[in-house]
Amino acid sequence: MEKMPFRESMAVELPLTTPTLKPSVVSSDWKQGLPVLASHNVTLRELRLSDAASLLSMLSTEEVARFISPPPTTVQGFERFIVWTHAERQAGRYVCFAVVPNGTDTAIGIFQVRQLEPGFGSGEWGFAIGSEYWSTGLFPTGSQLVLDFAFDVIGVHRLEARAAVRNGRGNGALRKIGASCEGVLRKSFLRNGEYLDQNLWSILAEDWQTLRRNVRVGTSIH
Ligand SMILES: CC(C)(COP(=O)(O)OP(=O)(O)OC[C@H]1O[C@@H](n2cnc3c(N)ncnc32)[C@H](O)[C@@H]1OP(=O)(O)O)[C@@H](O)C(=O)NCCC(=O)NCCS
Repeated sequence: MEKMPFRESMAVELPLTTPTLKPSVVSSDWKQGLPVLASHNVTLRELRLSDAASLLSMLSTEEVARFISPPPTTVQGFERFIVWTHAERQAGRYVCFAVVPNGTDTAIGIFQVRQLEPGFGSGEWGFAIGSEYWSTGLFPTGSQLVLDFAFDVIGVHRLEARAAVRNGRGNGALRKIGASCEGVLRKSFLRNGEYLDQNLWSILAEDWQTLRRNVRVGTSIH
């Protein structure tokens, strides 16, 4: 998912004052508030305004941002993005989880899922994690939690992801969790004035039933 992460956030109007948000609600109705998804090494939870500074430092580096839509460049920009994620979740169109390594309370990345059609029958997911946490096992565990959530709770039947063909790590990550590469979307992503080819990856609900049986991770939803 190259285009989703921050494009929409750029259109959000700057609030006149620093926005305040209620704490995350732990609820089985995800539109009212995202549940906490927990595993042995990572917790996924709703974004909080206080995550803005750590997300800025984790996601605005060149190595993280070079193949995704440009992230906000300020703490205030990330705060507006976080407010936008809550509004979109409430509208039932989108969810965004903070990636929090166990033993910390610091958001070091995000997983996002957006609907591709009204009713969320199909969706697109995307992810970005601070580079110091690459290859630590947070991505595979976090992706399992998000995929369970997308298929079991949201009820998506097909989940797509787009990754620039040049993004070796992004494509490697999708391949290793079992996504199927359906083809190349030629010159489909404008980045730094250049149109990049993207691979289109998908996971179907029935694929995930099989794939997750091969995964051994203790997970829970609070
Ligand atoms: C995508 C991202 C979340 C994955 O997290 P990660 O911790 O790096 O992922 P992992 O290390 O668990 O998996 C990546 C796999 O790709 C492999 N890989 C790395 N570079 C590669 C390359 N150039 N070509 C092919 N495979 C590559 C890794 O070896 C690894 O597989 P392995 O565990 O079997 O060795 C993270 O790299 C990131 O945030 N990247 C920047 C943002 C981004 O590109 N998002 C994806 C948009 S689709």
